[in-house]
Amino acid sequence: MLGRNTGDSITERAVGAYSQIADPRLREVVAALIQHLHALVKEVRLTEPEWEFAWDFMARMAAVTGPERNEFLLLADVLGLSQLIEVIDHDRPDSAVGFALVGPFYRANAPVRARGESIASPDTTGDRVRITGRVYDLTTSAPIAGATLSTWQAATNGLYENQDPAQPDYNLRGQFHADEAGTYELVALMPTPYPVPIDGPVGDLLRVARRHPYRPAHIHFIVSHPGYETLITQVFVEGGEMVDSDVVFTSGANMLGRFERDGDGYHLHYDFQLRPGVSTTPRAPLP
Ligand code: BEZ
Ligand code: FE
Repeated sequence: MLGRNTGDSITERAVGAYSQIADPRLREVVAALIQHLHALVKEVRLTEPEWEFAWDFMARMAAVTGPERNEFLLLADVLGLSQLIEVIDHDRPDSAVGFALVGPFYRANAPVRARGESIASPDTTGDRVRITGRVYDLTTSAPIAGATLSTWQAATNGLYENQDPAQPDYNLRGQFHADEAGTYELVALMPTPYPVPIDGPVGDLLRVARRHPYRPAHIHFIVSHPGYETLITQVFVEGGEMVDSDVVFTSGANMLGRFERDGDGYHLHYDFQLRPGVSTTPRAPLP
């Protein structure tokens, strides 16, 4: 018999209404989503004007979302959700470099470059860093010959090439292969901090929270090889500005690189450890 609506009865009925989802994992996630959202509304006693603000905020996020930009992903990033998922999904020993969120600026199919080649076009301003290191098996320490390293970074003006018509296509992006001994070498731009996009509703959120919008200087890497879990990570500059207050909560002690002065540029030696497992390809947020 239909009873009077109460806070608890609505939650119970809503969860029950989705109990016929055939996929057990999807059923579990939807039930938990409803329970947690209802709990939030009850805990803070969300008001009607606050709910109107929330759905308008979502509409504003949708309005700035398109093939080149996803404001929903950015919101998840600045709330710490994206990095939380990486940490939960990839628990690794302290000795291994950590997993990082892939971020909104990854593009697949970057040009495959020769060992030692630069990902920066000659006219890209900024210091250069020569990066060398080894890719090896986390469990046996054996080199992973032929491992693929896909890397990308922002220019010193804070823009990735897809955001900046002045940069050549695929500037500051490249794929490299480790040699028989698992070693690799490439040249990149000495990374500098840059802000996440703040001209949308997520920018409003950062401003009301009085948070700065910067990501500390970093270079992205995806390291992969058949038979190994794909490592998605970022290398941050040890001692760099704002490394303790990354706007998306990614920087951590297991992702710091020592960038040392070397001639008129810098040198970084950095190793990547892969764990035996299934090699996957992350979905590229950009075309
Ligand atoms: C990035 O590092 O490319 C990034 C990550 C999260 C939000 C914005 C940018
Ligand atoms: Fe980045």
